[in-house]
Amino acid sequence: MRVMVTGGAGYIGSRTVKALGEAGHGVLVYDNLSTGNPWSILYGELVEAGLEDTPLNPIDPYGMARVRTSWQWEQAFASGKQSR
Ligand SMILES: NC(=O)c1ccc[n+]([C@@H]2O[C@H](COP(=O)([O-])OP(=O)(O)OC[C@H]3O[C@@H](n4cnc5c(N)ncnc54)[C@H](O)[C@@H]3O)[C@@H](O)[C@H]2O)c1
Repeated sequence: MRVMVTGGAGYIGSRTVKALGEAGHGVLVYDNLSTGNPWSILYGELVEAGLEDTPLNPIDPYGMARVRTSWQWEQAFASGKQSR
């Protein structure tokens, strides 16, 4: 499965990414690195961007649709806090 993890460079997110990677899943980390560290990402690829960079949309509050077009994720795991 292809899984996007927001906040994937943080404490909870990076452990989620590790568990997913070890289980053989593809991982996309979506993180603005405001508190996270790129070296904590042991699997997958990083998109360095903030959730607030995407337009507010009540149907898509996390701006996931934009990411969906560039990386065909099947599941998403939201970690960390929103800054808006
Ligand atoms: N036991 C420990 O050693 C330890 C260490 C760290 C944290 N903690 C605990 O873990 C909890 C917090 O963990 P967490 O993983 O939720 O927080 P975190 O701060 O570790 O991770 C949040 C992640 O989200 C990212 N982020 C924040 N705002 C963003 C935005 N607008 N767009 C994109 N990315 C964004 C940050 O860069 C970071 O990588 C707290 O309860 C804390 O006390 C424990």
